[in-house]
Amino acid sequence: MEYAFSTPRTLLRGLEREDCAIMADFYNNRELLEGFLFPHEPVFPATKAEVEGLVDYFKQGNWFALCVEHRETHKPIGFAAIKPYMVNRVSFISICLSPEFWGHGYGTEVMNTLLEISFDYFNMRKACLCVCSFNERAIRSYEKVGFEVEGRLREVVYRNGRYFDLVWMGLTKNDHRNTAASA
Ligand SMILES: CC(C)(COP(=O)(O)OP(=O)(O)OC[C@H]1O[C@@H](n2cnc3c(N)ncnc32)[C@H](O)[C@@H]1OP(=O)(O)O)[C@@H](O)C(=O)NCCC(=O)NCCS
Repeated sequence: MEYAFSTPRTLLRGLEREDCAIMADFYNNRELLEGFLFPHEPVFPATKAEVEGLVDYFKQGNWFALCVEHRETHKPIGFAAIKPYMVNRVSFISICLSPEFWGHGYGTEVMNTLLEISFDYFNMRKACLCVCSFNERAIRSYEKVGFEVEGRLREVVYRNGRYFDLVWMGLTKNDHRNTAASA
């Protein structure tokens, strides 16, 4: 199989319904659910059928969803999605990897390719994302590719009995070029 997009250690392809098996694991991991879900989504395990519905959810919402495969094993290790807002030329990015791959640079690799797709193929001029304030690993990973904190919605995320901020991060194509050039 040919892969249009890849990173040094991963291969990216369109998300298939069969990939939902790994997503079902994600949706039953409490730490992952706490950090990953949008604030309006309850932290609660999803059924396999509900997780399979995510593929349709992405399609209906005009998200371009990708399965992240490990380059050596071809095992799915996560998923990512880009929603390009054509008029504003701003994309919204989401990424989720299997816990065993956290903290080893995979997220940074994949995010760089998501930015390449956003800027060089979808012709976006800016990429954005939201992250819960306690998700320090994710924030650090996004900062490494050049994202900056642009604002905070204070105490809109309720997790494990406490309120947290939702952090809005953004990166323009120009700033990304400069970050890449100086790396
Ligand atoms: C967010 C995510 C994609 C990042 O990918 P990753 O592969 O774990 O990130 P990286 O290894 O590329 O970078 C993580 C950085 O955070 C640092 N880090 C790790 N744990 C940390 C912690 N608890 N606190 C602060 N920094 C931490 C790492 O040291 C690394 O920085 P460094 O390279 O300067 O040392 C991944 O962790 C993930 O899928 N998490 C679960 C889903 C999720 O939360 N998605 C984000 C929703 S907005």
